[in-house]
Amino acid sequence: MPDSKSDPKSPLNISLDLALSGKGAPPQAVYDASLAKAGQALDWLRGQQQSGSLELLQIPSRTDDLKKAEALARTIGKGMKTVAVLGIGGSSLGGQALTVLSKKSTKRAFVEFHDNPDPLSWRGVLKRVDKGLDITKTHFICISKSGGTAETLSQVLSAEAALKKAGVKNIKKHFTIITEPHKSPLRDFAEAIGAPTLDHPTGVGGRYSVLTVVGLLPALMMKLDAKALRKGAQAVLDQTLNAKSPQDSAVARGAALHHALAQEGRLATVILWPYADKLAILGGWWRQLWAESLGKDGKGSTPVSVLGPVDQHSQLQLFRDGPGNALFTIMTVDSKGQGASVPAARAKQIGVPYLAGKTLGDLVDAEARATAQTLFKNGRPVRVIHMPKVDEFEVGALMMHFMLETIIMGRLMGVDPFDQPGVEEAKVLTRQYLAEK
Ligand code: PA5
Repeated sequence: MPDSKSDPKSPLNISLDLALSGKGAPPQAVYDASLAKAGQALDWLRGQQQSGSLELLQIPSRTDDLKKAEALARTIGKGMKTVAVLGIGGSSLGGQALTVLSKKSTKRAFVEFHDNPDPLSWRGVLKRVDKGLDITKTHFICISKSGGTAETLSQVLSAEAALKKAGVKNIKKHFTIITEPHKSPLRDFAEAIGAPTLDHPTGVGGRYSVLTVVGLLPALMMKLDAKALRKGAQAVLDQTLNAKSPQDSAVARGAALHHALAQEGRLATVILWPYADKLAILGGWWRQLWAESLGKDGKGSTPVSVLGPVDQHSQLQLFRDGPGNALFTIMTVDSKGQGASVPAARAKQIGVPYLAGKTLGDLVDAEARATAQTLFKNGRPVRVIHMPKVDEFEVGALMMHFMLETIIMGRLMGVDPFDQPGVEEAKVLTRQYLAEK
């Protein structure tokens, strides 16, 4: 992979060949109209950048916030065995996605993410104290843009209680807070215990915050190169803003493809299908980005994240022969020649000569190609993103691509990609139910 031409204009290796040709392609005139509209959305984006109104566009070139985060990262993990990141939704999924870059290790991860407030799981985390294990050696990075999310506050306050119960006196040494610079329950907590605090940028929504300190402080704790992440993002931003025409922008072309299919009533589902275990974690972040940004006003498409090759053996039948209203994005890495190889003699002896001398990576590569072609031949549009290197630059570029594509898609659909009234409604009701006697 890829067996098709990639977009030479993008810092990323993205091919729309199997989406813009064949039976599954949207009609050319519809795609052209969507692309022209995407051109207008690019003009809007340029305006946002010039006026400084869309803070996300300023993030990749910022350095001041990183200096403070780097200084904190050098100290907060000292003497600790675990850094536990507490936060939910956009306050956690970006950091989690960046674990795609963490080096494989047999040891337990130093940085853990606890987003779902399942009582049993969380009790297990806090129980370290009862077993006399290591909550006294855990530092909590607590992230909430609003500073008022019940799930995160419940974890933060119960963690403080557990630390006290374990006899910890210097509570502030165990907490770092990331929240917006205004009065809120979480900021009040930070002030009460004297914990260091980083500002969550007010103009960047949770699901767009991965390249702010929200994602980058956890990244720094994982020893990742935060500057390279931002450089990759900046490369995509530059390519998008400097594109002479929408045709020259991978972001505009991607959004136009989605929009053209939606115009034809063929975009009920969007499917991200990485062919590498390590890329699977990106799916959770991308799902929130797409769902929360675009699912509104009776519009939107459901993001589904699957994994290859394993889901060939569970979902592909539906994807090939089902309703046919999905766009597939298959993601591949350089897997050819990787991993264990199949001994040739035994493979021949048992009648599978096609496996003789092949590696598991050869198999995965062939399967990704086979899936893409199967879908394509059956009229299902397929986009292929190939990541020869899964490093900070590439991941930063990919994330910025997805964020800009989502924003442009929101403009094309006529929905606001930055609000989330559905999430807010449930938060209000949760507080109301909890307050009931
Ligand atoms: O993207 C969003 O806006 C939401 O998913 C929020 O990130 C999530 O609800 C957490 O909110 P907060 O960061 O305010 O705690």
